[in-house]
Amino acid sequence: MSIKLALFASGSGSNAENIVHFFSENPLFEFPLILSNKSDAFVHERAKKLQIPSFTFSREDFLDGEKILTLLKEHKIDYIILAGFLLKIPLTLINAFPQKIINIHPALLPKYGGKGMYGIRVHQAVAESGDNESGITIHFVNSNYDEGSIIFQAKCPVLKTDTAEMIADKVHALEYEYFPKIIEETCNL
Ligand code: GAR
Repeated sequence: MSIKLALFASGSGSNAENIVHFFSENPLFEFPLILSNKSDAFVHERAKKLQIPSFTFSREDFLDGEKILTLLKEHKIDYIILAGFLLKIPLTLINAFPQKIINIHPALLPKYGGKGMYGIRVHQAVAESGDNESGITIHFVNSNYDEGSIIFQAKCPVLKTDTAEMIADKVHALEYEYFPKIIEETCNL
């Protein structure tokens, strides 16, 4: 029996693509679908290239959760992976996938988390803070933004001269290295 993962992404989807590549030789893991809240997100182009069906849902359908839940059940999804997904997950989905929704956040939670803290905004806040490190946090999703239990963190140094874009590059490198491995460990239990 394979483990089926749904990838949710709102933007470029470079993490989503990296994850699919990581598991490409592993028949135990399947990626039946990619979901997005944005029809023009670049992740749809990546999905085409990867030959994975991708869907866009409306804000209303997302908040309600039922249609998405039906789609996930039809595809027998075991885990939801948030790979650069920017909306808060509705309770319908959290209750249907307890400790089975995994998010990556581009900073060391609990710092730089919460509503409005995503993507480059996080790195801007870190650059302005004077902190000498940042990193990634991989965690289970609960009903509060960025507050579910932490599975894994990794750090990178931040120099005083680093711009937000330079921090983003370091953090993306950590994401590419660790997110697929942590998914493999967490979903294999
Ligand atoms: C990633 O850095 C991810 O950690 C972040 O969005 C980026 C998506 O990049 N997620 C969040 O900020 C969630 N709060 P990608 O589309 O190239 O994978």
